[in-house]
Amino acid sequence: MNSYTLIAPAKINLYLEIIGDRSDGYHELAMILQSIELADRIELRSLSTDSIRVRCDHQMVPQDQSNLAYRAAELIAKQFPETFAKYGGVEITITKHIPVAAGLAGGSTNAAAVLVGLDLLWKLGLTQSELEELGATLGSDVPFCIRGGCAIATGRGEQLSPLPNLKPIHLVLGKYKSLEVSTPWAYKAYRASFGDTYLKGDSLVNRASVHSKEIVKAILHQDAKEIAQKMHNDLEKVVLTAHPQVLQLRETFANAGVLGTMMSGSGPTVFALCESENSALLVLQQVESAIANSDLELIVTRTTTQGIAIERSHS
Ligand code: C5P
Repeated sequence: MNSYTLIAPAKINLYLEIIGDRSDGYHELAMILQSIELADRIELRSLSTDSIRVRCDHQMVPQDQSNLAYRAAELIAKQFPETFAKYGGVEITITKHIPVAAGLAGGSTNAAAVLVGLDLLWKLGLTQSELEELGATLGSDVPFCIRGGCAIATGRGEQLSPLPNLKPIHLVLGKYKSLEVSTPWAYKAYRASFGDTYLKGDSLVNRASVHSKEIVKAILHQDAKEIAQKMHNDLEKVVLTAHPQVLQLRETFANAGVLGTMMSGSGPTVFALCESENSALLVLQQVESAIANSDLELIVTRTTTQGIAIERSHS
């Protein structure tokens, strides 16, 4: 095969708790990550030259070495120089559907797809845990994006413990197209306001072992209403304060008869869990007419058990 097309799903955070500082400068987290059907499409095509090229139809996505998908290919090329020399370069074409800089792991899932796809294209035969280990060096969310489904993520967010697959839950996502939130900024702002509450040393480990008990119970019960009630995201404290329009969007969702609403990751995407697809479509209409702003993008989707998947391969 000299070309693969992969589906790269986005994620939402059903839970994000900041526990403390780590010696590597990151934050110790307890998160629950869930894949959703909203996905980008990534095509990898062998090139006869030894270059890595990225093409993307979205103007906010860089096509140079700063793109995480490029860095994923570069990482594999550096780790396996003989394979890179044997197969030549690769062209990565990204068809974007996931909003950019949105707290939905759009960049991370693209990088995850490149790792999974290059493993196939270059016949490396890496195991899932080897791919996840490589992924963790690119970004904290990359291992989860490779695996997908529902998982507890601790450490920087790269240590995963699987949770049972959820029956599909319908949801609506809302994101202001022109508003981007930088993840480093969100964590820095959180540290500035709440750093004095951080746990240190051994207490970090103890705290991480009892995290998010209530929502885990709700997931084990497969109860969407209970899950919605137990959702939490510490980063809301800084992002909603800095961006009142995101707070207003969250309040509009909350008043639209949803099971529950929350910001995903470092935002600014807000999502609302709904009882059914019909209810999600009604919520979308209600929020659209309440806010009436063409900059607001609303998307109906649902949870999925799928991580990176191969759509097709060609020779
Ligand atoms: O790992 P990733 O590159 O996605 O993280 C982006 C930024 O978010 C990091 O550079 C860091 O500033 C912040 N971050 C953090 N603690 C984490 C994950 C991310 O402080 N556990």
